Amino acid sequence: MSSVVAPLFQPLKLGPLTLRNRVVMSALTRSRSIDTVPNKVNVEYYRQRAAGGAALIISEGTLISRQGTEWPYAPGIWSDEQVDGWKKVTDAVHEEGSLIFAQIWHVGRVAHPDAPEQKKTGEPVYAPSAISARGGKFRFIDGQPGYTTPTEIDDPRKLIELFRKAAVNAKKAGFDGVEIHGANGYLVHQFLDTTANNRTDQWGGSVENRTRFALETIKAVSEVWGPDRVGIKLAPCGGYNDVGMPLEETLETYRYLISEIEKLKLAYVCVVRYAEAMDPVIDGKKRATQHDVVESYRSCVKDVRFHLNSGLTPPEAAGLIKDGKADAAVFGFLYVAHPDLAKRIQFGKPLHPEITKFETLYGREGTLEEQAAGYTDYPAETYDS
Ligand code: PHB
Repeated sequence: MSSVVAPLFQPLKLGPLTLRNRVVMSALTRSRSIDTVPNKVNVEYYRQRAAGGAALIISEGTLISRQGTEWPYAPGIWSDEQVDGWKKVTDAVHEEGSLIFAQIWHVGRVAHPDAPEQKKTGEPVYAPSAISARGGKFRFIDGQPGYTTPTEIDDPRKLIELFRKAAVNAKKAGFDGVEIHGANGYLVHQFLDTTANNRTDQWGGSVENRTRFALETIKAVSEVWGPDRVGIKLAPCGGYNDVGMPLEETLETYRYLISEIEKLKLAYVCVVRYAEAMDPVIDGKKRATQHDVVESYRSCVKDVRFHLNSGLTPPEAAGLIKDGKADAAVFGFLYVAHPDLAKRIQFGKPLHPEITKFETLYGREGTLEEQAAGYTDYPAETYDS
């Protein structure tokens, strides 16, 4: 192994778990479940990535209820059938020596009343406040309807309860822990952000109030798992899904939240760096608040692991780990075309991100066999042993 990437291959203690290296596979929405239930093609996809050496796999965003969904092909974790489907995934991952956390997810205001799954529930689209996101892209709704004004949730504890139930189901499904999706402008992020949350009760306004939903969700999920098997993903720069606050407010909010996460002794906080691709132009300007998340937040945690996500190259990630600027590197895009990413890095095999087929990044209607195209058909390299 080249000494440049060696820091990526030191084991890492994560609560009671030991990661075999520092290569983490990010949650990636690939939309290959049918009727929200994980299937054998999903099992094969995760098995390949575990066999390819990833220490820890974060499941694709997994919906905690049918209400608050956007896509029909994203999996959920509210039913026994989904739990059974996930159990086959977690068994396969464990057989290949990896660990897997369930990323639990509610999209809040960026669901749409006409989205097929949301419609089935007969419930409105809930969010912290009745403020619509600007823009809107719905992969499975005809035309360009744009986001709608959501219904302000009367008691946010109802949504926290859904996260708790999802955590219970994740345990039944054999996951090793859970990651709360607190990033990318979805429900938890909407509570944090003053441009999406203008509540005047204990869930809005001050930093303490806006972080309450995230922290209470963490506490609810920690009661199920113990805090040392819970992680949270945060994207302080915002951008995607029309969130993002002025810099001072951002720093104040996220420094407070991450410092509280340190007190709660979670397994890790996954912090997403600024990424151009996640920063839409809204009303003629880029939406995100660009800043250096390592500089800004690394020092807020000591015992809690700091996972860094977005746009990392392997040598860069190894350097950041060597310098103590991150504990683990979370790769997303590179995992699409390289099931054996960790092994490739370890054994110096080439990476070919240019072969990634964007037209099959997301699944669409079709048979299970058709879902495999651009999903499980990227080859691994061959290795001697
Ligand atoms: C997406 O499918 O576009 C997506 C889903 C979840 C994320 C980010 C992007 O966190």
